[in-house]
Amino acid sequence: MSKSKKLVVGNWKMNPLTYKEAEDLYLSIWDGVGKCKNVNVAITVPLVFLRGLSLIKKSNVSLGAQDCFPGEIGPFTGAVSVRMIKELGVQFVIIGHSERRAMGDSDQLINEKIKSALLNNLKVVVCVGESIRDESGDYLNFIKNQLITDLSKVKRNLLKNLMVAYEPVWAIGKDALRPAVPEDAVEVAIFIKKVISEIFGRAVGIKVPVIYGGSVDPKNCGNYLHDGVINGFLVGRASLSSEKFLEIIKITDEI
Ligand code: 13P
Repeated sequence: MSKSKKLVVGNWKMNPLTYKEAEDLYLSIWDGVGKCKNVNVAITVPLVFLRGLSLIKKSNVSLGAQDCFPGEIGPFTGAVSVRMIKELGVQFVIIGHSERRAMGDSDQLINEKIKSALLNNLKVVVCVGESIRDESGDYLNFIKNQLITDLSKVKRNLLKNLMVAYEPVWAIGKDALRPAVPEDAVEVAIFIKKVISEIFGRAVGIKVPVIYGGSVDPKNCGNYLHDGVINGFLVGRASLSSEKFLEIIKITDEI
């Protein structure tokens, strides 16, 4: 994955049901991606499918995990460590998705996961975003606090492998209120870069890629890219249809 290109990540979440379906979907995405000049493409798949898909090794579609546990091995029932994910030859991991946060991941645990993943040379997409958007702008403080704790004591030299996904919780999934208005998503992306500049310095803040997630589809994706601030997408439902996902990739590649 080269860093200056835009990034489109499909997050399959807990889908599909069988390995056969996962392989078919992966192959049809790979088939259609061809040579994108301006976009890196990745999909994060359920862990049980990761080994099989990673053996197929299609170089123009990276594979990632949807979560990880800090460290290597130990008495942590049900957990899969950063090192185990690394063993699969996987290049990156999503950390702090709102659906994991709703299952109990605190910002402190997310911070441990991020530090562990970056130390092991995985690329990290950390998700932040508010549950409600209040008139007074408190949601910006909420996002700032998430970033401050999530990135606490992360080594500056490892930040080249960090990407941030702005995913407002109210815009995610089939019960979403609506997708974020592009201007609002751009405003928050700039804010995220500003907060990261305050923590780590301007050189880091300017460079950190910020992608948007929440009801992204082929019809709306182009609208987020015109200002050149949003560096790509984290796509849920639409990544389960190769046609829709490929269309999003194509539009992103062309803008
Ligand atoms: P949807 O695109 O289905 O709203 O999901 C967004 C998301 O949570 C991606 O991580």
